[in-house]
Formats: sequence, C-alpha cells, structure tokens
Amino acid sequence: MFIESLSLKNFRNYETEEFTFQNGINILVGQNAQGKTNAVEAIFFLCTGYSPRANKDKQVVNFNCSLADISAVAKSNYGDIKTRIIFDKTDKKRVFVNDIEVLKIGEFLGNIHSVFFNPMELKLVQESPEDRRRFMNVSLSQMSKSYFYSLSRYNKILSQRNNLLKTPDVDIIRETLPIWDIQLSREAGKIIKQRNDFLSELSPIVEEKQAYLTGGRETLKMKSQDGYVGSEEEIAYAIKEDLKTAFEKDIRLGFTSIGPHRDDIKFSLNNQDVRVYGSQGQQRTVALALKLAETELFYNKFREYPILILDDVLSELDKGRQKRLITAVDKMQTIFTTAVFERAVFKGVDFNKITIEQGKIKGRK
Ligand SMILES: Nc1ncnc2c1ncn2[C@@H]1O[C@H](COP(=O)(O)OP(=O)(O)OP(=O)(O)O)[C@@H](O)[C@H]1O
Ligand SMILES: [Mg+2]
Repeated sequence: MFIESLSLKNFRNYETEEFTFQNGINILVGQNAQGKTNAVEAIFFLCTGYSPRANKDKQVVNFNCSLADISAVAKSNYGDIKTRIIFDKTDKKRVFVNDIEVLKIGEFLGNIHSVFFNPMELKLVQESPEDRRRFMNVSLSQMSKSYFYSLSRYNKILSQRNNLLKTPDVDIIRETLPIWDIQLSREAGKIIKQRNDFLSELSPIVEEKQAYLTGGRETLKMKSQDGYVGSEEEIAYAIKEDLKTAFEKDIRLGFTSIGPHRDDIKFSLNNQDVRVYGSQGQQRTVALALKLAETELFYNKFREYPILILDDVLSELDKGRQKRLITAVDKMQTIFTTAVFERAVFKGVDFNKITIEQGKIKGRK
C-alpha cells in the first residue's frame, strides 16, 4: 500500500499544506527544525492513531491555533482508504476512516500500515525493555485487532490488580485477587502467544536483514526473555500459577511483578549482547534491520508492504550501508527525511524529492 496524499492544517509548524507522494522513494529535504519530522509524524498518526514520539496529542496543535486537522489518502489492494484526525487543544482527538467517525482507536488503527524509524528508535536496542515492548505492541496492534483489544483489556485489569495490591487489608486482597488473576492470565496468554509467534517469524528475517545491511559480517540472534512457551491456554495456566507464587512478593512491592508487561527481547551479535557490547553504528543497524524485517511480516500477513518511514536515518549510516538500505526498500513506499541530500547515494533510483522550509513546501523535483 502507499500514501498518495497528505493534508495538514495547523499541525505543528504547518498552516495549510498538501503533500503528494509516489509509490516508491520519497525524500523530504530541509534544514533542521523546518518540519520534516512533523510531516512524517502526521503520517504515522494517520496510520496508528498515535504519535511515534509518544507525546501528548495536544502538543501537535499549532501554538497559535486551537484545532489541527490532518488527513491522508492511501491506495491499497483493498481499495482507497482515507484517514483523518482532528486534534482539539481542549478536548479529545476525533478520528475518521473514509469520512466516518470511529469511536474506538482499535477501529482506526491498522487501516493504513506503517513502520516508523528514526534515531530515537535506537532506544529499541539501547534502553529500557519498555521500548522493546512498545515495538512489539505497535507492530502487533497494527497487524491484529485481537492483540490490540487483549492488550487494552490486560492493561485495564493490571491497573485494577495493582490498585488492589496497595489496599492495606490483606484479607480483602487474598479474597479478590484470584478473580483478577483468572482474567489477567487469560489475556496474558493471548498476548504472549502472539508475541512468541511474532518473534519467531521475525527473528530469521532480522538476521537476514542484518547480514544484508552489513554485507554479511555480523550474525544477529534475538529472543524473548520471559520464557513462556506453548499454546495460549498453556501460557495462561503457567502465568496463573506464577501469579500465585508471586503473591507475597507482589503485596510487598505493591505491583504485579510478572506478566507480559515485564517482558523483554534480547539481541546478540556474534554471540555478544548488543546492548552491552555493540557500537553505536551496530546498534543502529540492528534497530534498522528490525524495522525492515517488520515490513516483511506485514507483507507475509497482508500481501502488501506497509509505508516505511525513515526519519533522519541516512546521515547516520556509512555510504555502503546507505546504498544497501536504498536497495532494500525498493519494494515498498518509503519516505526518507534528511537535512543533507546527497544525489550520489540515490543515483539510478527514481525518487520524489520535496523540499521543506519553515513548515511549507518550497519545491519538488
Ligand atoms: N505545536 C507546534 N506549533 C508550532 N510549531 C511547532 C509545534 N511543535 C513543534 N513545532 C516546531 O516544529 C519545528 C521542528 O520541526 P521538526 O521536528 O519537523 O524539524 P525537522 O525538520 O525534522 O528538523 P531536524 O532536521 O532537526 O530533525 C520546531 O521549530 C518546533 O518549534
Ligand atoms: Mg527531524
């Protein structure tokens, strides 16, 4: 699938602007702080209902306005899809699919698929497990509504369970907890099973992408840390038992110490933990390989590639890796942003170049 047009109104530093994209390579070029990331952020928002920057929704409304309105039209094998979001500084955002308002973000998300990458995504490899869980959650939620709804239910039950754990009366906790635990472990089973399937499908492809990007020099392995395996029911049962075992500890801690909200992914490169021993460039390449592999999973599931957004990625790679990256993305619509455009890197490829200056399109190739 690909995005044909994007329209922005009072979104961050844009007043009114219309972008047209081609199915293939698109490059947003401009100096720092001109609106390149803002434009691709809008695209990601229109695909998922969330910001890749994980900010508050209201921040996207132009400083001088009270409403922002963004929409995109995408072409897919299943027909044209239009998504639209209206942000209100004083109210919740409203989302629309094909001009019909939808009340649940679960119905909005997953209509247009996208994979987003920018230097912040290095966190994926470097920083907290939360970033790696977020990666799985964003990806799986776009691919599977049942995952998204399980996750929403899980989070709700989890926060109720955690509130209960803070109650001073231990007898009440002892009586009530088993009820929460049945529900919690049921959703956990669904989440972990889908994550396990996701990681085992993703893993060989990530290795392949990593080998490709590095010219075959590095072999990457990845695996989930939590260790729950088997069917949904088997995992749910194991979690339920583990919750029982962790009971005293959870009361002491005042929160739930086991479950998919504590999971992590481990990456190793030539048998060394990437997080600990990897160079910046290696970590960046791993994160990028992960995102490229994610596009293949979308393809396997929907027989269509998602829109790949590569924000500020080129400048961080050496020339060899840049060229290999451009070759690797030629099957799908890709939107690059860069402050430095080097024609030589794009030699021989067809691209649509859009220059941005102070929240306005200044030129197209
Ligand atoms: N709500 C808002 N209203 C108006 N301007 C905003 C808003 N939010 C962010 N901006 C402005 O947008 C600009 C940053 O845009 P953006 O992040 O898209 O830059 P960029 O072109 O990607 O730059 P870089 O090359 O540094 O990544 C900043 O000048 C910032 O002040
Ligand atoms: Mg930027």
